[in-house]
Amino acid sequence: MEIKVVAGDVAKTKADAIMVSFFEGMERPEGDIATIDKALDGAISQLISQGEIKGKLNEITIIHSLSKLPAARVVITGLGKQQELSQDKVRGAIAKACRLLRQKEVSSIATTAQGAGIAGITPEGAAQAITEGALLGVYSFRRHITREAEYGELKQLSIVSSDESELHALEQGCHKGKVMAEATNLARDMVNEPANHMTPSHMAEMAKKLAETCGLDLTVLEREQMQELGMGALLGVAQGSRQPPKFMVLHYRGGDSNEVDVALLGKGVTFDSGGISIKPSAKMDEMKGDMAGGAAVMAAISAIAQLKPKINVMAVIPATENLPSENALKPGDILTAMSGKTIEIISTDAEGRLILADALGYVRKFGAKFMIDVATLTGACVIALGKVCTGAFGNNQELIDRIITAGAEAGELIWQMPMYDQYKEQNKSDVADIKNVGGRDGGAITAAQFLSEFAGDTPWVHLDIAGTSMTDKEKGYLVKGATGVPVRTLVNLVLSLAKK
Ligand code: BES
Ligand code: MN
Ligand code: ZN
Repeated sequence: MEIKVVAGDVAKTKADAIMVSFFEGMERPEGDIATIDKALDGAISQLISQGEIKGKLNEITIIHSLSKLPAARVVITGLGKQQELSQDKVRGAIAKACRLLRQKEVSSIATTAQGAGIAGITPEGAAQAITEGALLGVYSFRRHITREAEYGELKQLSIVSSDESELHALEQGCHKGKVMAEATNLARDMVNEPANHMTPSHMAEMAKKLAETCGLDLTVLEREQMQELGMGALLGVAQGSRQPPKFMVLHYRGGDSNEVDVALLGKGVTFDSGGISIKPSAKMDEMKGDMAGGAAVMAAISAIAQLKPKINVMAVIPATENLPSENALKPGDILTAMSGKTIEIISTDAEGRLILADALGYVRKFGAKFMIDVATLTGACVIALGKVCTGAFGNNQELIDRIITAGAEAGELIWQMPMYDQYKEQNKSDVADIKNVGGRDGGAITAAQFLSEFAGDTPWVHLDIAGTSMTDKEKGYLVKGATGVPVRTLVNLVLSLAKK
């Protein structure tokens, strides 16, 4: 879909549909809607007085203009109460309207800058929300479906404004929204892709393409180099699979110094069967998405490269399969991580923390001011927080607060979890420095405590996205399957750190 900002009057715009918003509590059409209402001989005011248009959030009304306007249809999107409006509500309402119009074979839409000037939303913020809502809302993953879709394609969305002074801001918002949404959809594509296609090698190929198109530096470590670096934990997980592991390192250099300011680390388990501690077969297919953290950090750094903040960012993705075989890691085995710490394996299904231990070790060796890891790490996090928010754990309150704020801006909810030292007790091993499972109680926290041992004293936050990386329902701008969480949070965070 092409999205652009156009100077002009939406009522005079030719399109398959023009889209305007209406708020709960408004008694009559005002501004653009009033002009359109007049052209339609008062059809909108009539629907308002009859109670069909209430302005409730996500209410959509379609009126056919029957040649009274250049546009074939007028779509009135309800945005709820004015004082309660947020960018995320705009995203959701636009997404829903776009999906409905696509169903009706509409291919071009012209909209006003819905939400601009209301509840603190700037024109730029509105344009960004509209762009994200549209691109995220009509996302579909049809790569492996050979039959034709039962809906058409939205080809064009114009954000129309007659206020010359706001056009530049609208264009900036539209650009940022496009970069954000396209990166999110890229992460969704990677997560939705089944494991027979999305192998570690395929992830490395995608990293190569991204590096070329976005101008990032890429290093891919092969098994041999992992051995030289002593990445025993990652190699332990990888040894059960025929697919070679890959360790991707991407660099974006926008700052003046040579130091890495932010390191983003993402779990890249392209399929998690559990290994010898094999998972039950129900829903095991969902474990194709166990590389969602890796996909998110890859997508985020590609968006960062396009938005060009003055900061240096590194993305690190350890990628492997977790499978049982005659060569596989076994419960009771002891591995030595890159940091030198030894790890007793209690369950081979707690593999994410093993590969991240070496990723953290790698980043610590080369240095970074801040580290953020993203992982579908524990089922326990889903039990604790449901599928509503991502769990945040860390050793630096300021960084945690920044991430929560960055998430709120993106409409990606994050909740901080406790990291009291008392939880470390559960990870103590009798035969090694640490064990990889600390029991069922507080499982998301003990997993984070395990990681904290490898993060050392570098300011670090761990985001557990086990509950938020996929959705089984269509909701607002999320569609069934991968959500692309937390790509937009990570980009917002890096932009905010660059401003500091
Ligand atoms: N990838 C899983 C966690 C997961 C579960 C992600 C459900 C998404 C949905 C992870 O590798 C895992 O298997 N964790 C185990 C840890 C346990 C063995 C301590 C779990 O959560 O059961
Ligand atoms: Mn597992
Ligand atoms: Zn896993």
